[in-house]
Amino acid sequence: MTNYPKSLDHGSLTQVASGVHCVRGSFGMGPGMTIGRTMTVVDTGDGLALFNAVRLSESGLAELDALGVVKHLVKLSDSHGIDDPFYADRYQPAFWSLPGAKLDKLEADRSLGEEGPIKEGVTVDYGDTAGWREGAYWVPMGGGTLVTCDAIQNCADTEGANFLGRILTSAMGFKGGVVVPPMWRRFQKISGARVREALSGLMDLKFENLVTGHGPPIVGGAAALVRSAIERVSA
Ligand SMILES: [Fe+2]
Repeated sequence: MTNYPKSLDHGSLTQVASGVHCVRGSFGMGPGMTIGRTMTVVDTGDGLALFNAVRLSESGLAELDALGVVKHLVKLSDSHGIDDPFYADRYQPAFWSLPGAKLDKLEADRSLGEEGPIKEGVTVDYGDTAGWREGAYWVPMGGGTLVTCDAIQNCADTEGANFLGRILTSAMGFKGGVVVPPMWRRFQKISGARVREALSGLMDLKFENLVTGHGPPIVGGAAALVRSAIERVSA
C-alpha cells in the first residue's frame, strides 16, 4: 500500500443511532497545531459508508471491520479528503462526491445528488459558493440523522486538539455548540441572507441527530440547533 498520511490519535467507534457510528480523531492543521475531527460510519444495508474519512489505527480498523464491509466512501466537502485515498485503496469502495468537487488524487466515480449510498438518503448541496464545494447528507436512521462537514460544526468541546489548536480555534470562533463557523463563512465569501440561502436545504429537514466533521455527535433535538445556528448568522 502506498504511503498515505499516518493515523493520528483517535477514540473508539461510538453509536449515534442504530446503524450510525462515529469516531473522533485528529488532524494536523499546521506546524504544532492539531485539531479534532470526526468520521461518520453508516450501515447502508449494502455495506458501510464512510463520511469525512479519518484514517484509523490498526485496532480502530479492526473495530470498523467488525461493523461491516466498507463499500462506500462519501466526500461531503473539498476541505476534507486527506484520508480518502487510504480508504479507497484499502477497500475499493464506491466513491461518491458532489459534481465539481476537488477529488484529491481520486477518480470521479459516483455523483452525489439524486443518488447516494442509501436509497432513502437525501443530499443537501450548498451550491456554488466561492471557497469550496460542500454539502450534507441525511439518513433515516434514529428519526433522521444529518451528517455535515464544515458548514455546520458542533464546537462543544476540544477533544482531539492540542494546546495550540484549542487556543487558536477558540480565537477563530469555533465555539458555542452548533455553529456556522465564521471561518467557513469567510472562506466561502458569504454573509447574512446569503448564508441562509446556501444552507436553505437544511432548514426544513427533519432529523433528531447530527454528526459534523468536527466535534461530538448530538443525539436528539439536533434540527432545532442547526436551524438556530443558521438563523443567528443570517440576520
Ligand atoms: Fe473541517
